[in-house]
Amino acid sequence: MKLLNFGSLNIDYVYKVDHFVRPGETMSSESRQTFCGGKGLNQSIALARAGVQVYHAGAVGKADGDMLREVLQKNHVNIDFIRQCEDVATGHAIIQVNHSGQNCILLYGGANQTMTEQHIDETLAGFSSGDFLILQNEINNMRYIMEQAHKKGLVIVLNPSPMNEKILELPLEYVDYFMLNEVEAADICGTEDKDGLLEQLAQKYPGAKIVLTLGKHGVQYKDGDQVLSHGIYKVPVVDTTAAGDTFTGFFIGSLAQGYAADEALRLASVASSIAVSRQGAETSIPYMDEVKSSKLEAES
Ligand code: RIB
Repeated sequence: MKLLNFGSLNIDYVYKVDHFVRPGETMSSESRQTFCGGKGLNQSIALARAGVQVYHAGAVGKADGDMLREVLQKNHVNIDFIRQCEDVATGHAIIQVNHSGQNCILLYGGANQTMTEQHIDETLAGFSSGDFLILQNEINNMRYIMEQAHKKGLVIVLNPSPMNEKILELPLEYVDYFMLNEVEAADICGTEDKDGLLEQLAQKYPGAKIVLTLGKHGVQYKDGDQVLSHGIYKVPVVDTTAAGDTFTGFFIGSLAQGYAADEALRLASVASSIAVSRQGAETSIPYMDEVKSSKLEAES
């Protein structure tokens, strides 16, 4: 079984701030750092560090995308399906991080918005029934990718992040695994009521397995009649960027290595807790050895 992640690649400009910029305000930042990021790239690196071989498909600008290709290669991610665009810049994100480690993110899509049907067809030609396809919501042509992948019998994992109206136009009935938070689940269910979201989503998509993250209340998982939950761990919060991506990569990476869903939830929860205690996106993602030997204390 092979794993393909068709997803975004961003250069992250991370600004340390006292508070998030308010409308009409001009404010100096305390520092700026540049990291490799993008939900797609972060999830590929998390999958690789969890211990699985992953193929990343996407696009970067020819002039400014080398650092992203190199970091993937350094992490043993296959980059044969990453196109280099002549005339479009690599996608980037402007990320403000405050003193409590919370962030707000402004995206520029750039090359992430140049996926063509030809590129998608050529990429999917290398994959077959039972292989996993991992998707987020930072690239274009998602409907076409999902339709073609479904025709070929790929197992579709969707992390509908960042959530927007485009997600609601996708053939969500093809999704095998939803990896999402409460806001995303509520939007997909068309409700403002956060109670019983797991059940509501399961009723809407009965064939799908659902992993619902609940912030400080941990995570819930549902596969038919099997319902599991897992709590969070005590860590100093430095930067929450890529914590969700780390969770997705470690959960799917663990399942792909044969771990049962409850152990995959535990490993993913430990990995994402480690990620929030470190700065940056790709730089914060731990390796499986560290996750397994971690002695983090569960939050009561
Ligand atoms: O999930 C974190 C990521 O979101 C950042 O790396 C940024 O690039 C945005 O895509």
